[in-house]
Formats: sequence, structure tokens, C-alpha cells
Amino acid sequence: MRIAIVYHSLSGNTRRIAELLAGRLGPLVEAADLFEVHDLHQYSTLTAYMVGAPRAMRGESAAIDPAEIDVAAYDLIVVGTPVWAFAPTPAANGAVGALRGADGKEAVVFVTSGGAPGDAAGRLSTALEQRGIRVRGTVLFDRRDLENEERLAELVAIVTRPPSGG
Ligand SMILES: Cc1cc2nc3c(=O)[nH]c(=O)nc-3n(C[C@H](O)[C@H](O)[C@H](O)COP(=O)(O)O)c2cc1C
Repeated sequence: MRIAIVYHSLSGNTRRIAELLAGRLGPLVEAADLFEVHDLHQYSTLTAYMVGAPRAMRGESAAIDPAEIDVAAYDLIVVGTPVWAFAPTPAANGAVGALRGADGKEAVVFVTSGGAPGDAAGRLSTALEQRGIRVRGTVLFDRRDLENEERLAELVAIVTRPPSGG
């Protein structure tokens, strides 16, 4: 099984979970590759709140680097986002749009938040479903969960579950 872990992270929490996940999956699967996306609008913490959060709330997609993420060679896509204003970040929305070769595949969503995630996971899942990608589960991490083994194990279990119908 080959897994693509696609994520955005401004202050490192989502990156940390993505990296921990890749480390846990390493011995279990054929490949667990990380694809970090960067918003071309380079936010500081201040501009993230003033400019980025309203964009996230409106569901906007940012221009990102890389502009395209080819996941044709992968069996499953994990998409991770920080929560901004109870929503996925514009860069995470951009990552969904940047996926290539993803049609018909399955995905797992995880979000990291300060404890008030709103419907960020649901909104990201809907965006993926609209691209023909079936979401098999979502996992929420708040700031206390960043070192939470159980939550990470829950994410690993969903990712490594055999595909539905298979
Ligand atoms: C602009 C902005 C908006 C945020 N909005 C929320 C929010 O609505 N709810 C919440 O629980 N945390 C919110 N947070 C906290 C982040 O979701 C949390 O710290 C997350 O883990 C950051 O991920 P990162 O370190 O990968 O960037 C916000 C952070 C920023 C910078």
C-alpha cells in the first residue's frame, strides 16, 4: 500500500502529526510520502489572523507551491490541515484542487486546532468528495493531542484499514 500525506502547516503542528504518521506507517506500508504545500501568500501569525482566517471562513483556495500534486501512484491520500476560523486553511483547500490522478481514490482527513475545530474536517471532506475522492474517516487533534499516542494510533488504524469492499 502506498500512501500520500498531503498537508499544510503554518506553525508546525500539522507538520508534526504528518511526520509522526509517516514514521508510524513506514514499517507497515510500501510507501508513506510527505507532500507539504505552502501558501504563496506568506502569512505571518498576524496576517494569518487578519487576512488568512477570513479567507478560510469563506472557503477560498490559495495558490500553492507545489501547484500540482500527482497522487496517481498512491492507494490512499491523507490530507491534513490546521483549523483557521473553524475551517480548513486556504492552502489546504488549494491542495485538494492541486491533486492529480486522485479520482476514485480514498482519503483520510486530519485537522489540528486549538480546541475549537468547528466543521473544518467536514468542509475538507466535502471538498474531497466533490473531486470524486471518498473520505473513509477524519481525526481531530487539538493542542493537547499533539503528543497523544492514542489519537495517532487512531489515525494509523484508519489509514491502514483495508479499502472498503476489498
Ligand atoms: C489564523 C488562525 C486561525 C485559527 N483559528 C482557529 C479556530 O478557529 N479554532 C481553533 O481551535 N484553532 C484555531 N487556530 C489554531 C490552529 O488551528 C492550531 O494552532 C493549529 O494546530 C495550527 O497548525 P500549524 O501549526 O500546522 O499551522 C487558528 C490559528 C491561526 C493562525
